[in-house]
Amino acid sequence: MTALTLSTAAAPGLRADAIVIGVAKGANGPAVAPGAEAVDKAYDGRLAGVLETLGASGAEAEVTKLPAPAGFKTPLVVAVGLGAEPEKDSSFGPEALRKAAGAAARALAGSKKAAFALPLGDAADVGAVAEGVLLGAYSFDTYKENNASGPKAKNGKGPLAEAALLGGKPRDAAHKAALARATAVAEELNRARDLINMPPNDLDPEAFAAIVQTAGKEHGLKVQVLDVKALEKGGYGGILGVGAGSAAGPRLVKLSYTSSKAKKHLALVGKGITYDSGGISLKPAGHNETMKCDMSGAAAVFAAVVAAARLGLEVNVTGWLALAENMPSGSATRPGDVLRMYSGKTVEVLNTDAEGRLVLADALWAASAEKPDAIVDVATLTGAMMLALGNRTFGIMANDDAFRTAVYEAAEEVGEPAWPMPLPEHLRKGMDSPTADIANMGERMGGGLVAGLFLREFVGEGITWAHLDIAGPAFNDGGPFGYTPKGGTGSAVRTLVRLAELTASGDLG
Ligand code: BES
Ligand code: MN
Ligand code: ZN
Repeated sequence: MTALTLSTAAAPGLRADAIVIGVAKGANGPAVAPGAEAVDKAYDGRLAGVLETLGASGAEAEVTKLPAPAGFKTPLVVAVGLGAEPEKDSSFGPEALRKAAGAAARALAGSKKAAFALPLGDAADVGAVAEGVLLGAYSFDTYKENNASGPKAKNGKGPLAEAALLGGKPRDAAHKAALARATAVAEELNRARDLINMPPNDLDPEAFAAIVQTAGKEHGLKVQVLDVKALEKGGYGGILGVGAGSAAGPRLVKLSYTSSKAKKHLALVGKGITYDSGGISLKPAGHNETMKCDMSGAAAVFAAVVAAARLGLEVNVTGWLALAENMPSGSATRPGDVLRMYSGKTVEVLNTDAEGRLVLADALWAASAEKPDAIVDVATLTGAMMLALGNRTFGIMANDDAFRTAVYEAAEEVGEPAWPMPLPEHLRKGMDSPTADIANMGERMGGGLVAGLFLREFVGEGITWAHLDIAGPAFNDGGPFGYTPKGGTGSAVRTLVRLAELTASGDLG
């Protein structure tokens, strides 16, 4: 991954492949952002005009490349848009910086070293630019013959290798802490992206569990893996029922980070369907090509727990990864089967493609047994949530309005688009089953909320709980934008880390 440093170097004498500067959308065309004064001076103060001639507007994440002025040791200037110029005495804000830094880092793929001369006000800005660079530079080329570390490395355009943040103060404690936090969060988030992008023939539940065990050892986390035998012994009918059709058996992975100074306990539960074919209720072609992404919730939880450990947060965080592969076969669960869940409730499976709620139900009940202060689950749960909120925004449901608001505010703070959604009581009766306690499907309208209502039944009495449906933003089918690459995005990781921080400081419920 890209190596980051804080640097007090001055632009003209700096040796790098490129220098990145900010451009704002001013009232009369593009305006050079603070941080780029030396560069503007070298263009005789005509940089804004030059950028306008090149068609730059200053729109968020717009990239314009131009040759560096005479006397510069860097050959290239990359001007990146920051959006509307802020009011006097206020800054561009962390999200504009994150997007700009990400877009610039992506545009510099294949370069060795770049200097970022973006407007850095406080330490939060340093963290935002660092995060943007590390997330934007991400690429997944493990399976390409000509990848950066492969046999034909010369042909590959590896990610930007090194970035110096100009204006960052290497001796300032707040700047250093912001850089360290951004590095831990972004590295773990990129690890989640790697897992999501990994093809499902290489990442089955067993392989996923083994990766968690290795990371757990590295970071001093306790990892417990329930295999098929242990799941049978424990009565985890939901996870077993979903995994029944696959040659690769399901797993429930518990990973625990504990702090000696913890006063609170946060439990995170992730949907980890390593491939969702739909099962006997098979998905048609056109709907299954990206279903390797159906373990994005588990990947996010994994990343967040490791990040909490790396940051040494003063809170206990337990991650529960409900891992299974949903496949059709002679041993698969049929529509019409009844499963006895870990909680003791029975579920009539009307549609084997509504499998996420079944594995989550068991994991939620297991998490509840420890009586944590709150549970947050993350899942690529419903196509209905994508219809409601689109491809970039996740839905938040909860059994507590104040907690739902707190989660929404945490998401907003870290730059993750999210929106609160209701759990209307009248939708519950659609899941009444003549045979079992509940069916795994209800009304089609409001399908995302129906799924949330189903999950609510498996949360222990009196426990505060929120559910994030990340079906839309988890996987980017289109082109890259800002600091978001094509493929696995790492959606919800930053929100979960923020929730762990807020729990540690006692600012969350
Ligand atoms: N994993 C899917 C949801 C999904 C769809 C995630 C598209 C990402 C992109 C989930 O398991 C599913 O199939 N849900 C069904 C539920 C229905 C059968 C009640 C759905 O949303 O269609
Ligand atoms: Mn499904
Ligand atoms: Zn699914």
